[in-house]
Formats: sequence, C-alpha cells, structure tokens
Amino acid sequence: MKKSFRGEISVAPDKSISHRGIMFGSIATGVTKIENFLMGEDCLSTIDCFRRLGVRIEQEKDRITVFGTGTLKQPDSSLYTGNSGTTTRLLCGLLAGYPIKTTLFGDDSLNKRPMKRVIEPLSLMGADIQAKDGNFCPLEIDGKERLQAISYTLPVASAQLKSALILAGLHGDGTTLLTEKECSRNHTEVMLRYMGADIVTKEKEIYVNPVERLSPLELKVPGDISSAAFFIVGALVTKGSQLVIKNVGVNPTRTGLLTVLRQMGGNIKEENKRIVSGEEVCDLVVSSSQLHGVTVEGDIIPSLIDEIPILAVAACHAEGKTMIKDAGELRVKETDRIFAICEMLKTAGVEYEEEKDGFSVVGTEHIKGGCYESFKDHRMAMSAAILSCLSEEEFIIKDSECVNISFPEFWELMEKVTK
Ligand code: S3P
Repeated sequence: MKKSFRGEISVAPDKSISHRGIMFGSIATGVTKIENFLMGEDCLSTIDCFRRLGVRIEQEKDRITVFGTGTLKQPDSSLYTGNSGTTTRLLCGLLAGYPIKTTLFGDDSLNKRPMKRVIEPLSLMGADIQAKDGNFCPLEIDGKERLQAISYTLPVASAQLKSALILAGLHGDGTTLLTEKECSRNHTEVMLRYMGADIVTKEKEIYVNPVERLSPLELKVPGDISSAAFFIVGALVTKGSQLVIKNVGVNPTRTGLLTVLRQMGGNIKEENKRIVSGEEVCDLVVSSSQLHGVTVEGDIIPSLIDEIPILAVAACHAEGKTMIKDAGELRVKETDRIFAICEMLKTAGVEYEEEKDGFSVVGTEHIKGGCYESFKDHRMAMSAAILSCLSEEEFIIKDSECVNISFPEFWELMEKVTK
C-alpha cells in the first residue's frame, strides 16, 4: 500500500564501527566500553569469535565491556563467522600476526565469498593462510609473532581488505605502505589512531607502523548511515513525508548516497553536526522530493557500495533513467547484488537493464506487486520493503527475518513511521 514516512526515529547502530570496537578493544590493553552497540547477528558473530580467543566480553543491553589484555589465546575450536565478511576478512589480517592456529568458516553465503584478495597480500607479509581452492573458507591461519612490512596497491576498493592489511601491519617489521585507487571507509584508521596507533594517511596512501600497545576505547557508536538509507529513500519517494533521523554517522567516506540523492533532487538536511568518538555525526531531516535520474560511476562507488540496492529503489521513483556503473564488487557481496536488484525490479515491473558492473533503471509511476526472493540478503529485503511502499498491490518478501544481520528493529520501525 502507498504510505508516507513521518516522525522522528533512530536507526540501528553502525555495523562497521561496532565490529571494530570489539576487535580493537580485544587487542588493546585495558577496559574498552562501547555504548549503542549493534546487536545484529554479524556483530554477535564477532563477539563470539573473540570470546573463543580468550577475551572477556560482557554485555548489558546495548552496552559492551571488553577486557583487553593485549593478547589472544589459542581457541579450542574453529571460529564461526556466520554471514559476516567484515569479521572474516579483518580476523584474517589480525590473526596472521598472533602466534596461534585458527580456522575460520561461515554460513553458505560467506563460504562462497572470495578471500584470495586478503590471502595474497598477507602471504607477501609472510602469513601462512590455507584456503579451500586457494580462495574460500574454511581458512586455516598459522599465525606468526612478526610479519614483514610491505608496499602494496589495493587492486579492489575494499575497506575489509585495507583493514586486514592495516591490522597485519601493526605486527610488521617496519612501515607498511598501502595505496588505494579509490578511498574506502576509514573507520579502522580513525579508531586505531584514537587508540594510539601510528597510522598516517596522505590522500590515497596509508602508512602503518608497528605498535607495542593499544590504549582502550570509550566508544559511542553512531546510527548506521547504511541503515538510515532505507528510511531516507522511503521519505524521499513517498508523498507527504517528513522524517527526522537522529544521530546518524556521516563520515565522508560513507556519504556517497547523500551526494547522489541530492544530485537527483532529494531534500535532505544535516543538522547538529558534531564529532563523537572521532566520527562525524548529525541528525538528518528528509522530505518528499521529486527525483530525476542520474549516472553514478567512478570514485564515488566505494562510498555508497552498500546503498546501491536502495538507490535502485530511488531510481524507480525518479523521472528518466538512472545508470550505475563501476560497481562490479556488488557481484561478490552477501549475494550477487546486481542480479538480486534486477530480480527486484523485474518483480515490480520496472524497466531495467543488467550490465556486468552495474545496471540501469527507468523510473515509473506504476510499481507492480508480487513475490520477491530476498536471497536471504538483509539489504535486499529492506530495499524491497521500501519499494513495496510505492505499490498499491500486495508485495511479499521472502525470508524477511534476514534483516537481523544488520537491523533487527527494521520491521518494527517501519510499522512505527509509515502512515
Ligand atoms: C565493510 C566494508 C565493505 C562493506 C561491508 C562493511 C567494513 O565491504 O560492503 O558491508 O566494515 O569494512 P568491502 O570492503 O568488501 O567493500
């Protein structure tokens, strides 16, 4: 049914920052306190892995206390990383530099995702990582006391890869130099610097020096812009909407969606801009807007990579054609998201074309109902939910509980704000 989005909300805490709070707090020396932690399945997988690595982690509602001792213990079983690419890839880089033996494996989706991108450069640093067919989980890591510092240009724009190499670089025998072709999210650099690591960023170059001891953190996790994205687009594309989203992280490496939606004619205001735990945060005010199609390509892609499924929904409502290019990375996310987006557009009867590294969409007034296979991908299910708000017909989303990966309160919040 056609609905509008009204009121004032907070969205799920940032997933990337929550993961890093647990990981970096675990390798610090001292007590790390995290407020507004994301209790989504991916971040719970990270907590479980670090408990198995001998770290005491206490939880009370959304407050987490991590008792870091600067060391990790040999676990007595394999580490299950669930659906989480961030947990798996960052752990790979981190565990390569501790003298313990570990095995990482995940769910069916995770076990199909490429790991060679982290294994190859980590091997250049002297890490010993064995993978199924050289590329897939389970990963067997035989950690070393010290790794070799390297100079490496990242072949893909990936914060998970970059972060894995930064974590390994902390155990290097000199300065590791990482060069990015396009900037990816920088939460790892921001947080580790905050904890006393010597990491210097000069445009697209990152210099990582070895560290003896990391200080613990007092971390307040902001709302996740990738979760806010669904409600931002929901409010823009529906008539009579006016929504305030409080406390959203707007780190400039994450705000590509806001830039593009504004280019499309979206009315989005940022209020009360402030810095919390080293990260930019603000309140967003979003109102219904008439959007028009744009082309999205090049350097901006990594800063909105997780938001492309919901951008496709905005494109359905926009006048004219929207084209997404240079987004081949979507093929190796939780599912092949280019295919999954095109299936969503097909279900809704929207005109589209699938390309190797993107797709195009022609906006329309009429969104058809139907039954959408979410591919158990949290971001696909939530995007389809917003698309369904534009349809007068019944729209069914399969495996809708997959939102628990990143946004357990999503359906409840949808009920609350849509009228
Ligand atoms: C993430 C990095 C991105 C993103 C993922 C979270 C992170 O993945 O898609 O949801 O926390 O570092 P890539 O590094 O594969 O682009």
